[in-house]
Amino acid sequence: MSLSVALPKGKLLAGTEALWRRAGLPFPESEGRRLVIELDGVRFLFVKDMDVPTYVEYGVADCGIAGRDVLLETGADVLEPVDLGFGRCRLVVAAPRGTPFDYRRVASFRIATKYPRVAAAHFQERGVSAEVVKLNGSVELAPGLGLADGIVDVVETGRTLEENGLAPVEEVAVSSARLIVNRASYHARRTAVAALLDALRRAVAESVEAR
Ligand code: PRP
Repeated sequence: MSLSVALPKGKLLAGTEALWRRAGLPFPESEGRRLVIELDGVRFLFVKDMDVPTYVEYGVADCGIAGRDVLLETGADVLEPVDLGFGRCRLVVAAPRGTPFDYRRVASFRIATKYPRVAAAHFQERGVSAEVVKLNGSVELAPGLGLADGIVDVVETGRTLEENGLAPVEEVAVSSARLIVNRASYHARRTAVAALLDALRRAVAESVEAR
């Protein structure tokens, strides 16, 4: 197998490594601070979660693993052949708990988010006028500090919302980790890509059976 694979350094890394090993594929022991590692003919690129689709779309990596949330936000033109089943979470609109907040009734409101494209599209579809403020993290702070009326963010356990006095208002999308493939690589490197796809598909099926 000779492939370049872009993997997310963030929350999806543990699930990615577990799946890779379950599939019987070699995985670097510890990525440490090295961001490019060659192992058994596979070049592993460890990049920011939000950048995985870009590396794959531009063909620097043949394949990658990205959350559906990230794919929705980047809008990257990549193939998405396998739902890997881990990293399940929801993208939601959330607002301060206990205050009767109905954004449909206000003339305009401000929303803070790491997902400006997803948020803008969500409110536009509903005919709601919203000002979207882009943040790079710790989005849950924004309403309490007066930066925004609400947020659009990822919820996994719900603890971050809870501990920052927020509650979900509505769901925007559901997400899980996806295997993504560069369109040209899918054909040009068909044998190596198909071998990776088969191994990961089998590992996903096994983990579903084991549940
Ligand atoms: C994500 C997300 C929430 C949190 C949700 O943040 O933006 O803050 O996880 O998880 P929970 O529902 O289990 O509490 P991340 O850890 O990626 O950090 P960031 O906010 O700095 O991006």
